[in-house]
Amino acid sequence: MKLFLDSANLKELSEAASWGAIDGVTTNPSLIAKENREFVPLIKEICRLINGPISVETVSRDAEGMVKEGRVFAGLHPNFVVKCPLTKDGLKATRQLAGDGIRVNVTLCFSASQALLAAKAGAYIVSPFVGRLDDLSQEGMALIRQIKTIYQNYRFPTQILVASVRHPLHVVDAAMIGADIATLPFSVLEALVKHPLTDAGLERFLKDWEKLPAQAKELGLGGGASPSAGPGSAGASQAARSSSISHTVS
Ligand code: G3P
Repeated sequence: MKLFLDSANLKELSEAASWGAIDGVTTNPSLIAKENREFVPLIKEICRLINGPISVETVSRDAEGMVKEGRVFAGLHPNFVVKCPLTKDGLKATRQLAGDGIRVNVTLCFSASQALLAAKAGAYIVSPFVGRLDDLSQEGMALIRQIKTIYQNYRFPTQILVASVRHPLHVVDAAMIGADIATLPFSVLEALVKHPLTDAGLERFLKDWEKLPAQAKELGLGGGASPSAGPGSAGASQAARSSSISHTVS
C-alpha cells in the first residue's frame, strides 16, 4: 500500500520524505489555507520535496471551472493530480479531464454508489473519507471493503485512496483490506512509528552497553552523530591504532 502525506506543510513533508515512507501527497483547500502562503509557489515547492503524485483540489462548483483549473494544475507539473469533488459537476469534469489524459482524484466520497460513478467517469483515484464517516457512527472501513469488492468485480483500474485517516488502526485496516493508498496527517505517520516496547527495549540495551565503557570507547561506538576528532577521542585512538598496526606490518 502506498502512503501519502495529507499535508501542505513543507517541514512535515521534508521530515516524512527523509524517512523514505512517503509515495505522494494530498492537499485540500483547508490544508493549503493553513499554510498562509502563496498557492502556486507552495505547490511547486511540494513537488521539489516529494517525487510522486501530488493531489491539488479544484475550487469551482461548476464543471467548466473545474476543467479550466485542472488543466492549469496539470500544465504546472506532471506530478499534479487534479482533485474534483464527488458531485454531478465533479463527475462531468472528471470525464473531460480524464479524456485529455489528466489524472483525477475524485474526492469527498462517502458511499459505494458514488465510488462506482467515480470509476465509470474515469477517475485515477477515488478518495473515501473514513474518519468523517466514523464521526457519524458509520463504519468508514466498511465503505472501503465495499468499494474494493465493486472495483475487483468489474476490474476498474481506479485506485482506492483511504482519506480522513485519524489513527494507526485506520492505516492497518486499509492495508488489510488491500486499499491502494492511505493518506495520513503527519501526526498519524508519527504514531505509526511509536511503540512503548521499542522505547523500553532500546533504553535497556543502551543501559547494559554503558556497563562496557572501555570496549565502547575503543571501537569508537556510541559517540552520537558527530564524534570529535580531538586528542583522546574515539577518532584519535582509532587513528593511533591504525598507525601502530601499520608499523607492526612494515
Ligand atoms: O484527505 C482528506 C482529509 O484531509 C480529510 O481529513 O481529518 O479533515 O476528515 P479530515
